[in-house]
Amino acid sequence: MENAEIRADIPLLEDIIYLDAASTTPTPIPVVDAMCDYYYHFNANIGRGAYRTAVKATSEFEKSRSKIAKFINCKAEEIIFTKNTTEAINLVANGFDFERGDSVIVPNIEHHSNFVPWLNLKSKGINVKVVKADKYGVVDPYDIEKEIDETTKLITITHIANAIGSVQPVYEIGEIAEEKQVPYLIDAAQSAGHMKIDVKETKADFITIPGHKGFLGPVGTGFLYAKEEIIGRLKPMNLGGGTVIDVTEENFKLDTVPGRFEGGTQNIAGVIGLGKAIDYLGRIGMDKIERHSRKLTSQMFSEIDAIENSVIYGRPENIYGIVAFNINGVNTHDVAKILDEQRRICVRSGYHCAIPAIKHIGAYELGGTVRASLHYYNTKEEVQILAETLEEISRLLGD
Ligand SMILES: Cc1ncc(COP(=O)(O)O)c(C=O)c1O
Repeated sequence: MENAEIRADIPLLEDIIYLDAASTTPTPIPVVDAMCDYYYHFNANIGRGAYRTAVKATSEFEKSRSKIAKFINCKAEEIIFTKNTTEAINLVANGFDFERGDSVIVPNIEHHSNFVPWLNLKSKGINVKVVKADKYGVVDPYDIEKEIDETTKLITITHIANAIGSVQPVYEIGEIAEEKQVPYLIDAAQSAGHMKIDVKETKADFITIPGHKGFLGPVGTGFLYAKEEIIGRLKPMNLGGGTVIDVTEENFKLDTVPGRFEGGTQNIAGVIGLGKAIDYLGRIGMDKIERHSRKLTSQMFSEIDAIENSVIYGRPENIYGIVAFNINGVNTHDVAKILDEQRRICVRSGYHCAIPAIKHIGAYELGGTVRASLHYYNTKEEVQILAETLEEISRLLGD
């Protein structure tokens, strides 16, 4: 599928220049259609009813799980559906067998969703070791390795830092984690759907993935990949219907995985839509997506870099999909508002739910950064319009 075909499938793009994929992505028509099909034709609960409509709903839901598993090279039983990345990370933070005295290693360039859940473990006697990235927002695997000792229970890191766009050496850290036999979590919120991910190659035990960002799926979807060998060490956090196989007046017996983690009625339409989104990415091809997005990222970097008064965070050869910048002298939210008012360009401004990362790159006092983030549906013309409008803002308002 070419760029023009996918644009035709996303009506939202007719009116705006959408450069906020790092927050969420617009949903293509086939994905919306798959959800409508569920609502119109087989809107029943899953895993319960014996009637054919309910069986169909269950089967379509489980088909999505299998498609996702194939897409990231794991077993369907290793996929636990959640409503977003944050919930997937919290499932590990609160459900993994942490004990008082254990420690977690986490970089300082994380989204709050991969930071606050770990800080929260301090109240249970778990030590949090924060590793500093370099000035471009990249973590040195050696700095992670140095922190590993007999108390280390988990290493966690984002694949791509959402506030900077910097790609982290997750494969090298995977080698270290494997060698030292330390459980390893990758937050793939900004990489999944933007680049091919084979969970086996990452050596990760846990990977957290949103459905609503790079995968082009619906909001309210996401999942945790938990490796077969470790999933048994995870306790479910949301018990009730659908999570047990037997209950007496005194006790209960948990269902097998992943059912035990998916308590209550799930986002059935959303998961079915997500399955369609996986088909959709497959039709475009992950290699093509990555080639296109890498080209646009470097175009965006160099065009913004050429603007007087611009400051970009991150190194051009090591950012992907995201360009975070400031125009000296202009408030970040003002830049975003002007881009919208002048050319209907949607970018995010502020701290991007990553205050330690923003402080680390020295942008806190500036009110954070402006962040433009892209996907396969964006074009080089859109990037040019962004750069031209920024040029104008810099000329009229910059220092
Ligand atoms: C790196 C990273 N982790 C986690 C999250 C949280 O994602 P979600 O909104 O799916 O919970 C985000 C959201 O932007 C993110 O960029």
